[in-house]
Amino acid sequence: MPESPIRKLVPFAEKAYKQNKIVYHLNIGQPDIKSPQAAMDAVVNHNLEILAYTRSEGSEAYRTKIAAYYGKNDIPVSADDIIVTTGGSEALLFAMGTICDSGDEVIIPEPFYANYNGFAIASGVTIVPVNSKIEDNFALPPISEFEKLITPKTKAILICNPGNPTGYLYSKDEIKTLAEIVKKHDLFLVADEVYREFVYDGLEHYSILQEADMAQNGIIIDSVSKRYSMCGARIGCLVSKNKEVIATALKFAQARLSPPTFAQIASEVALTTPQSYFDAVIEEYKERRDTLIAHLQKIDGVKVGIPKGAFYCIVELPISNSDAFAQWLLEEFDLDGETIMVAPAAGFYSTPGVGLNQVRIAYVLKKESLIRAVEVLKAALQQYSD
Ligand SMILES: Cc1ncc(COP(=O)(O)O)c(C=O)c1O
Repeated sequence: MPESPIRKLVPFAEKAYKQNKIVYHLNIGQPDIKSPQAAMDAVVNHNLEILAYTRSEGSEAYRTKIAAYYGKNDIPVSADDIIVTTGGSEALLFAMGTICDSGDEVIIPEPFYANYNGFAIASGVTIVPVNSKIEDNFALPPISEFEKLITPKTKAILICNPGNPTGYLYSKDEIKTLAEIVKKHDLFLVADEVYREFVYDGLEHYSILQEADMAQNGIIIDSVSKRYSMCGARIGCLVSKNKEVIATALKFAQARLSPPTFAQIASEVALTTPQSYFDAVIEEYKERRDTLIAHLQKIDGVKVGIPKGAFYCIVELPISNSDAFAQWLLEEFDLDGETIMVAPAAGFYSTPGVGLNQVRIAYVLKKESLIRAVEVLKAALQQYSD
């Protein structure tokens, strides 16, 4: 089981705090945006007498409202097509367990969300990566590359749209092409759409379930964590119109009894969050992205992919091992008492040895903090020798 590259340096960060260093957390997608007040109030003002289990697939009331949310996003699903999970994380585990037997393969464009490695190992699934490159701003490799990798053991193609860690946003045409491949080869297309709302530059997100004829082959992974800045709620869902997928995923859901009750109450109310909240949050992230990228591009030897969505970017640094560099930043370095924590990027690839000179940066901090964090990075690179 691999360590999470996002969290494995926490003990070194703890040491840095003990030395009274200020640490800018660029490593983790924990937004500093306030959760919707109404969702917080719903938990405080509940009228439950027993904090009981809910149904394994999640409360009927919540699933009905999630279905309405999807309807508004042109994704035609009903409450029966939804299983509420303990975060998108559990939805990913359920998806792999549902569609794969041990030894089966899932094709994933890399770099990908690092915990896919852990979920695949926990499910006995082999990830078959399709490499995408910073030079091409992580554009999807030619579709022929995907088809070459399909074997009798392949069960699915898994994409993250918009992507963590690259910020890549799949075009409608790319989704259509992927949909054609999975239908041709009788595979699933699993789309992790937890960042659906976070899309910039006037671009639009196109969901796999907006595509006609994907009812049997499409599975969406979703979460309230980022959408409403409610990471601690631990609520997500798995969505599919394929009845067999839902029936099988429900068995996994039954084994873990139910998703958290209070958090479903909060998440149900969060669904009433007005568009104005998202408009403000998206504008804020866009400004953070622009600020971060502009400052990173000023550092000699640094290359950065430009994200079109989500709130991460992969940054190539003039170093040979970002694991060692990230640890050194916490243990050895500070600029006037301040340092940064980054996520070494090798853990976001499954091809060994790739991404060693890259880190993932999350732009979840205020602009002033991001500017300062890049100053710290620049000073660190001047001082560091491999
Ligand atoms: C792409 C992606 N998928 C899934 C998750 C899991 O999130 P959660 O379990 O909090 O819903 C994350 C969290 O960062 C993520 O970035």
